[in-house]
Amino acid sequence: MLEERRILITGGAGFIGSHLAEALVEQNNSVKIYDNFNSYYFNKEANINRLKEAKNCTIIKGDILDLDNLKKSIGEDIELVFHIAAQPGVRFSVKTPLKTNEINVTGTINMLVAVQNSNAEKLINASSSSVYGPPKYLPIDEKHPTDPISPYGASKLAAEKYCKAFYRVYGIDVCSLRFFTVYGPRQRPDMAIHIFTQKILRNEPPTIFGDGNQTRDFTFVDDTVSGIIASAEAKDTAGEAFNLGKGERYSVNDLISLLIKATGSSVKPIFTKKMKGDVSHTWADVTKAKKVLGYNPQTSIEEGLQKFVKWYKSMSPDQIPKASP
Ligand code: NAD
Ligand code: UGA
Repeated sequence: MLEERRILITGGAGFIGSHLAEALVEQNNSVKIYDNFNSYYFNKEANINRLKEAKNCTIIKGDILDLDNLKKSIGEDIELVFHIAAQPGVRFSVKTPLKTNEINVTGTINMLVAVQNSNAEKLINASSSSVYGPPKYLPIDEKHPTDPISPYGASKLAAEKYCKAFYRVYGIDVCSLRFFTVYGPRQRPDMAIHIFTQKILRNEPPTIFGDGNQTRDFTFVDDTVSGIIASAEAKDTAGEAFNLGKGERYSVNDLISLLIKATGSSVKPIFTKKMKGDVSHTWADVTKAKKVLGYNPQTSIEEGLQKFVKWYKSMSPDQIPKASP
């Protein structure tokens, strides 16, 4: 638990960032959200509804590509920086590699420069399981080779490398956290669980890319957030990378069956071609995060999907994150 710290979160209006901001506000920290509310998807305002009312939270509409504004927003008083903003989406990166690179690589270098010029003690960088590429063995530990197969994965790996270089050259206390397919209330509308739930509840068939035998280590957002906060408190994390997954994997076919069960639907999926950049399997070995951070993911897939479906059903359409047309 972090308490009474002055914190800046980039991407704090997004899916994971807004959950992190809520947890840190709840723990009595003073939180600044820095987010450009970009149009990758809509309804991010609804993500921060509760935060807007919190006295210990301020919201800055700013771009991580605007270094002056970033430096000004960190100022002299911010103690901890969580860099969560990015251009996410493996499939999107295949269509728009330059944009992905600009936000994820240049944006992260800007963060590093801004932190270097500040009094912040520590920077936490949101990375991704996509840095590994196709697994050579499972589960994947942090020593597994990094050989990404999507522009997104390459951009997140480049960002990690810059973090490590800034640690080595300038001594910045920065670590990277490799999240594994995160889900939960407010999940991005371009991700599988969100798309499948929306379709199933409309009684439309969800579309599976490939044969559905690909597996993912689906991780509930509260577990990811607890790992992020633990990393800020932990010692001996500078220059390191940590897997934050649940430590279990399910196939996309299994996922659809679980969602059909959770919703009581009887729709059948349809199959289309495999997507470029899509890795066959992810499965996190979280031994290092457990040992160094005290990370302990708790939420079973059944419980997490129930929570997601309950949230989805409870929202009015204008409160649910919505894909760009
Ligand atoms: P998200 O799109 O919901 O959140 C990202 C936020 O960053 C958005 O609110 C967006 O407006 C903001 N942003 C984007 N570009 C910006 C810029 N130039 N300046 C300021 N703000 C900007 O995505 P998410 O799923 O919450 O992902 C958060 C982080 O976690 C990202 O770094 C992503 O790469 C990483 N990640 C996510 C997952 C996942 O399963 N969701 C898995 C692995 C890694
Ligand atoms: C997710 C996030 O989107 C990335 O931002 C993140 O970095 C990555 O996790 C990660 O763990 O590092 P992905 O695993 O591709 O990437 O997440 P989903 O979009 O939820 O897809 C999961 C699986 O479902 C993929 O195999 C995908 O091909 C499949 N899928 C997705 C479908 O079969 N149909 C769909 O309509 C959507």
